[in-house]
Amino acid sequence: MNPDTKQELDDILSQHEIERGELIPILQAAQERFGYLPEEVIAKIAKFLQLPPSAVYGVSTFYAQFKFTPTGKKMIKVCRGTACHVRGASRILQELEKELGIKPGETTEDLEYSLETIACFGSCALAPVIVVDKTVYGRMTPKKVGQILAGNE
Ligand code: FES
Repeated sequence: MNPDTKQELDDILSQHEIERGELIPILQAAQERFGYLPEEVIAKIAKFLQLPPSAVYGVSTFYAQFKFTPTGKKMIKVCRGTACHVRGASRILQELEKELGIKPGETTEDLEYSLETIACFGSCALAPVIVVDKTVYGRMTPKKVGQILAGNE
């Protein structure tokens, strides 16, 4: 573990009691800090709480909020709701997969982008919709995908 990670994790742990009930708050704090839960972080949390690492994994894999691989600096979410589907969401997703070279649930090697699909955003009037971090892009076309990735939208 690099010294910065160790220090930051020590800071997080110092704010918690050694109690099993602290596991979720600690995992949440660690993920917020590191963006995901690296193996070494899980191991240290387990040691702190005097639990086997397998128990910590068991709990953390139960909750969809926890991630075990790094996510990109930018998160792209493609709506797969009905309205977006009908208006060509799959073509938008295909274009993103082609441009980024990744599938939903994956992150580019340079850690720039992660790609996910999600259910309706509630912006169906703008279908098809994608969200990049907190920005909603409506009436998407494959051409607009390239413009957004190039930072021209
Ligand atoms: S179906 Fe895509 S925003 Fe509602």
